[in-house]
Amino acid sequence: MSTPERSDRTRDAVHTVDRYYRKRADLGTSSRALFNKFASHYNLINLLFSLGSGSWYRRRCLRRSGVKSGTTVIDIAVGTGLLAREIKRIIEPDGSLVGIDLSEAMLRKAQKSLRIPLIQGSAEQLPIASASADILTLGYALRHLDNMHLALDEARRVLKPGGKLILIEMSVPATGMLRAFHTIAIGKVLPFISYLLTRDKRARRLMSYHWETISTYPSPETLVSYIASHSFRDVRHETEFRIFHLFTAQKPEKD
Ligand SMILES: C[S@@+](CC[C@H](N)C(=O)[O-])C[C@H]1O[C@@H](n2cnc3c(N)ncnc32)[C@H](O)[C@@H]1O
Repeated sequence: MSTPERSDRTRDAVHTVDRYYRKRADLGTSSRALFNKFASHYNLINLLFSLGSGSWYRRRCLRRSGVKSGTTVIDIAVGTGLLAREIKRIIEPDGSLVGIDLSEAMLRKAQKSLRIPLIQGSAEQLPIASASADILTLGYALRHLDNMHLALDEARRVLKPGGKLILIEMSVPATGMLRAFHTIAIGKVLPFISYLLTRDKRARRLMSYHWETISTYPSPETLVSYIASHSFRDVRHETEFRIFHLFTAQKPEKD
C-alpha cells in the first residue's frame, strides 16, 4: 500500500500530465495529420534536433535497458524506423520486431528501409495480443500521444509478465541558462535552419511544433511517478545533459 506522501505525489503528477494533454487538445493538433504532412522531412529534422547523436543515443539506450539478441519487441510510434533499425540490429537473428504507428506516411517511409511487419494503429489501442512482448519501446513519441493513460494501460496489457517498457524522450529544464540557451537554439535557430535546408515552410513548422511539445512537457520526475501510477514497478530514469531522457519500467510478474 502506498504512503500518503507517495499518493499525493502521484496525484500531482497525473494532474500535471492531464493538463498537458488538455492543452494539446485545445491546440487541435492531431498527430496523424501532422506526421503525414511532415514525414518527408522527419529524418533530416531528427538529425538536426539530436545534433547528429540520434542513432548512437538510441542504440545506447537500448543496450542500457537490457535489449538483447532473441527478444520479442514491439516498437510503438515506429515513425520512419529510426529506433526500430537499432532494435533490429541488436535482436537479430532470433528476435522478432513489429512496428506500429498512427501515420501512414511515416510507415511508408519506414517500409522503404526496414524489413519488419509494420501495422497502422494507435498506442492507445494496440492491435497486438495480450502478454505477447518481452519489450515495448516508445521513442520520442510520448508527448505526441493523445492519451497517455490509455497508452500506458495498453503497454501493460501487451507486455508479458516481467516484460519491460522503454521510453526515450527529450525535455529541457524549466528554468535557468540551459533553458534560455535551448529556447533560442531549438526554438528559433533550428526551425530557421530547417527552412533554409528544405526551402519548405512545413519543415520549419514541424521544428516549431517539436519545440512547443518539448518545452511545455511535464518534468521527468512527474513522468516517473505517472508511469508508477499505472502499476509498473522498478521505474527508472537516466538523463544525459538534462535533455535526453531514458525511462524504464517493468510489468510485475504477478498482478
Ligand atoms: C517523433 S516521431 C518518433 C519516431 C521514432 N520512434 C523515432 O525514434 O524516430 C513520433 C511518431 O509518433 C507517432 N504517433 C503519434 N501519436 C501516436 C499514437 N497515438 N499512436 C501511435 N503512433 C503515434 C507519429 O505518427 C510519429 O511517427
